[in-house]
Parts: sequence; C-alpha cells; structure tokens
Amino acid sequence: MSVEYLAELMRAHQPCVVLTGAGISTESGIPDFRSPTGIWRRYDPMEYATIDAFLADPEKVWDFYGKRLASLAEVEPNDGHRALAQLEQRGWVDAIVTQNVDGLHARAGSRTVVEVHGSIRTSSCLECGTTVPFADALARLPVPTCPTCGRVLKPDVVMFGELLPQAAMDRAVRLASEAGLLLVVGSSLEVYPVAGLPLETLAGGGKLAIVNRGETQFDVDAAVCIDAGAGETLAALAEALADRLQ
Ligand code: APR
Repeated sequence: MSVEYLAELMRAHQPCVVLTGAGISTESGIPDFRSPTGIWRRYDPMEYATIDAFLADPEKVWDFYGKRLASLAEVEPNDGHRALAQLEQRGWVDAIVTQNVDGLHARAGSRTVVEVHGSIRTSSCLECGTTVPFADALARLPVPTCPTCGRVLKPDVVMFGELLPQAAMDRAVRLASEAGLLLVVGSSLEVYPVAGLPLETLAGGGKLAIVNRGETQFDVDAAVCIDAGAGETLAALAEALADRLQ
C-alpha cells in the first residue's frame, strides 16, 4: 500500500482527523513507550506513571518526570509534525487528537490540537490548585513545590488511574465519530479510552488509516496500513496533496 493510496483516501473521505501517539515524536529524540527501545522497557509504569505511585512517593515520580521534562526543553518538532500542520493549513486535516504531552504539534503550527493526556506545559498543586508554567517547574526540579502552599506539584499529564480531561475526551470522541477518515500516526493503540477512537470512526461509517512502525490491533479494520516512519510518510503525503487546496 502506498502513500498515494492514502492521499486518495484523504481526497475521498473528509473530514480527516489525525490521532497521534509517541511514535510521531521519536524523530524529535523523544523515546516512545512500547517499542523495543521504549520507556516502559526500562521503567515499570506501575512504579512511575500511576497516580497512586505519585501520591505515595512524589519525589520518585518526579525523578522520572524531571528527566523527561528537562529533555523536552531541548526538542523541536520534526517533519511529521510540520507535515500535519501544512495539511491542516491546506484544509486536508480538520484536527489532531494527540496522546502526546510534548506540545510539539502546536509548536509546528497545528491550530486544532486536542490533548487527551494533558501536557507538560504546566504543573499543578493538588492541595490548593495553584498552577505553574513549564519553566517554573523545570527551575524547581528535582522536586517542584507549590509557590503558594509548599506541597509537591504534579505535572499536568494524565497518569494511569486518573480520568482523562473530560472536555478533551468528549471532543475527541465527537471528532472521531464524525470523521470521514481517522488517520492514526505513531501509536500502538493499546491504551484505552483513546484506543477506542477508531471504533467511533468505523461506527460512524468513516474509514481508518494507520501509519505506524509495527502492528496494532486495528490493522485488520484499516483501509490502509503503512509500516514506515511517520516523518517521511507524512512529508510524502503532504507532497502528494500539495497540488490542491481541499
Ligand atoms: N514512525 C512511525 N511509527 C513509530 C515511530 C516512527 N518514527 N517511532 C515509533 N513508532 C511506533 C512504535 O513502533 C509504536 O508502535 O509508534 C508506536 C508508539 O506506541 P507507544 O509507545 O505505545 O505510544 P502510544 O501509543 O502513544 O502510548 C499511548 O500510553 O504510556 C501511555 O500515556 C502514555 O500517551 C501514552 C499512551
């Protein structure tokens, strides 16, 4: 299956919504979670990425997140992020639903981005509700504390055991259910409720396309699966659609 076939799907099935995961950011130097070099191969998510682990030992969780926060301060959007921003500007992509917390879609110029797992852009105090920007949390490492009440801050990312931001998830479900095409890029589609979004599109009569290195449980339901790099594939897709405005 080729990029040209994916371009034909985008021409024929609008609106197109894109669902991204960690795989679109690996080419920016951010490791993903479940591929052979992923974070969860080195860290046990039950020890570092659950709300219970955070409440039990916030310093230990910050030791994990602090490293990620510092590295995220250095990264830049890649060809995949830029291609999606261009496809939105030319009318081919209506919105991006992202599981990523790195903020790279917005930095690449995408305007309609639904962050269903939160973002490292801010950290908040669970005690008094104070919120601080990324730079302040970074400056307060290794264990950022609340400037108001002194309690340990929590990064505003969704941890396992937490509910997703309701408004964001409601919007993501609506976008997926009304999509003519859901294009999944760089996600193993293993974590619910986001992994259920392809079913919303299919139930609404839309089509599914997947660009991912490695298989997912929804490959059988996809009109096209491209097992290749997100950056090269999305850049080629933007090129294939460059001849027209939607
Ligand atoms: N191009 C295409 N695919 C890639 C690339 C790339 N450059 N790099 C990695 N991939 C693929 C991997 O092979 C893997 O199948 O992207 C997928 C990423 O899957 P995960 O690591 O499971 O990431 P994701 O699906 O975003 O995880 C969902 O799990 O731990 C939680 O909150 C975390 O948001 C995350 C959620």
